[in-house]
Amino acid sequence: MKAVAVTRDDPTPRVIEVADPELGEGEVLVRVCRVGIDGTDHEVIAGNHGGFPAGEEHMVLGHEAVGVVEDPNGSAFETGQLVVPTVRRPPATGSNRYFENGEPDMAPAGQYVERGIDGAHGHMAEYVTAPPECLVPVPDSFREFGFLVEPLSNAVKAVEHAEASRSAFEWEPESAFVLGNGPLGLLTVALLREQGYDRLYCMGRRDRPDPTIDIIEETGATYVDSRETNLEDVPDEYEQMDLVVEATGYARHGVEAVEALAPNGVAALLGIPGDTTFEFDGGRIHREMVLQNQAIVGSVNSHVGHFETAREALAAFPDWFVDDLLTGVFPPEDIEAAFESDRAKIKTVIDFEN
Ligand code: NAP
Ligand code: BGC
Ligand code: ZN
Repeated sequence: MKAVAVTRDDPTPRVIEVADPELGEGEVLVRVCRVGIDGTDHEVIAGNHGGFPAGEEHMVLGHEAVGVVEDPNGSAFETGQLVVPTVRRPPATGSNRYFENGEPDMAPAGQYVERGIDGAHGHMAEYVTAPPECLVPVPDSFREFGFLVEPLSNAVKAVEHAEASRSAFEWEPESAFVLGNGPLGLLTVALLREQGYDRLYCMGRRDRPDPTIDIIEETGATYVDSRETNLEDVPDEYEQMDLVVEATGYARHGVEAVEALAPNGVAALLGIPGDTTFEFDGGRIHREMVLQNQAIVGSVNSHVGHFETAREALAAFPDWFVDDLLTGVFPPEDIEAAFESDRAKIKTVIDFEN
């Protein structure tokens, strides 16, 4: 079958022929419809994040998929059911309590592999197999955009953990600030709108006209340009933020996010920067966080419950949002074009059906 992969000696994604997957005991066979591309895929092919499956010369890419059950293989699924696969699987050494508890997203390094990212082949192939508990059913109407459930579930988890960190007192957040206008940032803006945050802001570093700024403004959020406004000036120029969600991968934002926070506020970090050295006043940040009861939460990956919440949220998003976010549908053979950076592109997807 056809798959999109990189090899150890060539990081350019391309179509290769691989063996059809073998159905393991209890595993479901899924015919892949679409697989999205995100910032992490760019980091993976650049060699900055993740790694090849042990002993393999190639890795099939892709972790944001939607597909159709082709062979339920004795599971409760029916043939034809549309599903979204999760990303993490147990490592070669076997399962562990994180998987057994249904919380593989909380497993530390070494206790998981990630399909298409770290140590396991991904979903960017004509067929994949998965245990039934790693497949989340979605409605038939999700065929074209169901691959967004996975990235949205990452945002769902980050917001859930941030909000949980404020659960020891009466916290009534109203304002939220998303750092980053990539696909993850824009999905987070739409999610927070759906979750009832009244006053929303989103930071980018682009000039108008720009399709991401149009989406931000169409959701009713305010665009903040990081070239004009430092995070420490946000409270004066805009307002103090109850919640900040970082989705830039820009290392300074990992500490500076708290500068935009209101007292009792929380910042959730999602970006995955490389090692970066910079100066900042650690004493001031430390002091202000203590005196203002603030929190910073890091968040990665997501479990089935987050996928289910993301599925409901996505169904409630306005149609225009998904239409505007999805800027390119490419056949596997056009993988290079799908990966090309271009300001007009927001979210691109590989389509295995047409
Ligand atoms: P992306 O397409 O690279 O988007 C990042 C966006 O942030 C870009 O639009 C970029 O603007 C903007 N940006 C970067 N630095 C900025 C700055 N200093 N000021 C303002 N805007 C800035 O990636 P993505 O797919 O949306 O993902 C975002 C980050 O989250 C990546 O680091 C990714 O690896 C990570 N991620 C983490 C998880 C998790 O579970 N923790 C899940 C998915 C993704 P320009 O385009 O104008 O350069
Ligand atoms: C994926 C997550 C993964 C994370 C770190 C994200 O892009 O969507 O599933 O855990 O990268 O590798
Ligand atoms: Zn991702």
